[in-house]
Amino acid sequence: ELCKGVNGLEKVILRDVRGSSAEVYLYGGHVTSWKNDHGEELLFVSSKAIFKPPKAIRGGIPICFPQFSNLGSLEQHGFARNKFWSIDTDPPPLSTSSSSKVHIDLILRPSDEDMKIWLNSYEFRLRIALGPGGDLTLTSRVRNTNTDGRPFRFTFAYHTYFSVSDISEVRVEGLETHDYLDNLQNRERFTEQGDAITFESEVDKIYLSTPTKIAILDHEKKRTFVIRKDGLPDAVVWNPWDKKAKAMADFVDDDYKHMLCVEAAAIEKPITLKPGEEWRGIQELSAVPSSYCSGQ
Ligand code: BG6
Repeated sequence: ELCKGVNGLEKVILRDVRGSSAEVYLYGGHVTSWKNDHGEELLFVSSKAIFKPPKAIRGGIPICFPQFSNLGSLEQHGFARNKFWSIDTDPPPLSTSSSSKVHIDLILRPSDEDMKIWLNSYEFRLRIALGPGGDLTLTSRVRNTNTDGRPFRFTFAYHTYFSVSDISEVRVEGLETHDYLDNLQNRERFTEQGDAITFESEVDKIYLSTPTKIAILDHEKKRTFVIRKDGLPDAVVWNPWDKKAKAMADFVDDDYKHMLCVEAAAIEKPITLKPGEEWRGIQELSAVPSSYCSGQ
């Protein structure tokens, strides 16, 4: 279902028969809502989010491509999150279970103007699929379509903003004992200590070579998010906390208490594609009820 969203921007609504749903803006190829079959919103979107190019929407699932953060000469987090994507009416077959789920296929190709900024031709196909249990799967396929034989390199992240009831009651499991680069300390490398990650101040870390499964436990909501990923070895964990939150124009001061970004990513080792080659990066999200004792 294609309809108009905020500021008349086009969005697609996916609905599963059991009641779960998702919303995707063509602007950014950006998922802005994911609801379970009780109609509860599972993603955080700031009430001050600006739905207007060239600003990326604050919340949901921005796509960071072809550059994560400021790790290169392009704009912060690359340009994919502030381009208008198109509906891909004839995507090449994707041999995954997502074909049988409610889904939408989007595509991003560079305009001539775009190719002056990143000197490469590519096709970026994004499938967003909603499963009968309410799980949300994003499949990215990036193909190098350069005609002059040049390979290209990129970094990538699904910059997912999870909705949490109170950040100080949240823990992340699956990243403990892993190495990370700390964006707050000149991207120096450290090793995570302890059992699980909890939050009491600003966090901005890139965990390296992480497991394919990461869990976010929200004790207050009695909910656990599970992230399963493929082709995305790294995982960014970000919460701006109070001072940075105040500095962001599209963020309410207290918003940091109600969100956590855990981002399936490929950063440390950029992806290199030769012409004709394709890369895939998959993130599958599920939200399950949990008891206070789960995971302990
Ligand atoms: C995170 C980065 O992924 O995104 C942070 O690690 C950054 O350093 C954050 O501040 C938000 O970025 P932006 O461009 O959406 O404000």
